[in-house]
Amino acid sequence: MSPKWFIDEVQHAGKEHLDPSQVARYDEKIPFDPSGEVETLLKLGLADEDTVVDFGTGTGVFPVAVSEHCDRVVAIDVSETMVEVAREKVDDAGVQNVEIVHDGVVRYEHEGSPASFAFSKNALHHLPDFWKIEALKTIGSTLESGGILRLHDLVYSFDPDDSHDAIESWLERMEPTLFTEVELHNHFSEEFSTYGFIFESMLQKAGFEILDSTYRDGFYAAYTCEWQG
Ligand SMILES: C[S@@+](CC[C@H](N)C(=O)[O-])C[C@H]1O[C@@H](n2cnc3c(N)ncnc32)[C@H](O)[C@@H]1O
Repeated sequence: MSPKWFIDEVQHAGKEHLDPSQVARYDEKIPFDPSGEVETLLKLGLADEDTVVDFGTGTGVFPVAVSEHCDRVVAIDVSETMVEVAREKVDDAGVQNVEIVHDGVVRYEHEGSPASFAFSKNALHHLPDFWKIEALKTIGSTLESGGILRLHDLVYSFDPDDSHDAIESWLERMEPTLFTEVELHNHFSEEFSTYGFIFESMLQKAGFEILDSTYRDGFYAAYTCEWQG
């Protein structure tokens, strides 16, 4: 049982991730080719006997793709709607070693052997900073010592002095047919992307050593980290 003061993770999941009609067209709207990330995990040592946990899996693209390279995949998402779609995807793919779990990244309690790899893409910016660290602690607690976290998110790397210009120019670059203006504005007004220099410090304080960090376009980051716990 979580304490009563815990965050309501469903309320923070992002309205579009709870709405069945939006979730139904999620893969078309935000296509994700997982092959590069699977390749990255393989280069980092992913092996047949390993467990992989995906936090904020969405429609389940990554767990299905990585499942043939490991023993067990646990993929969690706090949105019941996403979980239904992900379970369907797993069934359709006929894979037997993927468990889709309806849970939040903060609350999740891992069962079974510790994971060798954790993965998370574009999920943590839904949590305010205090809860991001709680989530990173949870992620760490699923990993064996020396386990690897591969994480992507919308993380800012523009200069804080240039924030308004950077955001206006990002908004102009976004495809207007994919996202409504309100959705794009909500990223700043309602969600919790933070700066890379803050996020790196969070990763370290939570117990990760950062092996690699990559920043792209002022708005996107990828990290490879090793759990020191
Ligand atoms: C932008 S989508 C990304 C989905 C997937 N990782 C991908 O890249 O295609 C973010 C996902 O994170 C989930 N999410 C948001 N907050 C969460 C939380 N606290 N715990 C677990 N899942 C969460 C949402 O429901 C949504 O499915």
